[in-house]
Amino acid sequence: MRESNANEPTTGTDEREDSVGSRSATALRSDGGHPQEAIDAQGSRRGETLDARIFEHNAGDDQEGIPFVGAGPGDPGLLTVTGSKLLEDADLVVHAGSLVNSELLEEYCDHAELVNSVGKDLETLVPLMRDAYEDGRAVVRLHSGDPAIYGAALEQMDALEHEGVPTYFVPGVTSAFAASATLRTQLTLNEVSNHVAFTRPQGKTLTEADDHVSDFVGMGDVTTCLYLGTHAVSETMDRLLDDGHDPETPVAVIYHASWPDEDVIVGTIDTIGAQVEEAGYRASAVVVIGDAVTARGYERSYLYGDWANRGDSSEANDAETQADGD
Ligand SMILES: C[S@@+](CC[C@H](N)C(=O)[O-])C[C@H]1O[C@@H](n2cnc3c(N)ncnc32)[C@H](O)[C@@H]1O
Repeated sequence: MRESNANEPTTGTDEREDSVGSRSATALRSDGGHPQEAIDAQGSRRGETLDARIFEHNAGDDQEGIPFVGAGPGDPGLLTVTGSKLLEDADLVVHAGSLVNSELLEEYCDHAELVNSVGKDLETLVPLMRDAYEDGRAVVRLHSGDPAIYGAALEQMDALEHEGVPTYFVPGVTSAFAASATLRTQLTLNEVSNHVAFTRPQGKTLTEADDHVSDFVGMGDVTTCLYLGTHAVSETMDRLLDDGHDPETPVAVIYHASWPDEDVIVGTIDTIGAQVEEAGYRASAVVVIGDAVTARGYERSYLYGDWANRGDSSEANDAETQADGD
């Protein structure tokens, strides 16, 4: 494993994790070399007609181009089989810094050149991946968790596609799912939570008006999973208290879910801010808000109740209908 030009994360907050930023210097070829123009062009093309690959690709088919692979939450065992094969065959792996467990890199990428994306902008990353791909090297872009959740993946993919390099997604286990496994609960639970919100609190990216944490908590039957908010747990809880939410609502903070140094703090809207401050965590945790945290008061589902025993010819015994009935 060769780490080239490695950068350590430059911030103690969650705001910059996995972000590629942008600046004006460029080695991009198309549209005067500005990634924003490439992104705009891809966006308007998508608005007119959907990518044919959406309909042509079948499960199991090999895909052409640079895969954007979800590394999962940390435990190398939670990487998908497809992701592991791609990493084993890779010549260059561009990874999302400290949120990708080094054990996973050691296990799957010891033969590959490694580049840490933290602190690098699109103008650096896109030509780096493009040139390696065009030189015939197997390139993998490795994101933490699932690239589709706060991954800033699509902008890199659009810029690469605009340069003529095909790309595709390989999903991963998002950290909220690792957190729910740690808590030994479900994020959806009959009579407790019918919905899950993946969200983030206001900050550099989100204005106060775009912060919907309080709205989700106010719905009552939503499990709210906060990403990118470890540094702001106290402020977020204060806002929930100001908005009149029940101070006893359960909240869990799962630091480094599925890592060897995983830590779990369980409290309430009223207490969790002080608990997290005492623990000293400023990044790399998921905050789960709602009654699903303790799973108190859930009811058995229809799936394994009377419903399951209706006659064989019943529509209810159709596997898909049963699964929907959970
Ligand atoms: C830029 S987002 C990336 C999320 C990632 N794509 C995912 O699906 O989990 C970074 C945030 O994800 C959360 N996160 C990522 N990995 C985590 C882990 N193993 N345990 C807890 N939180 C994690 C933290 O909230 C962190 O601030």
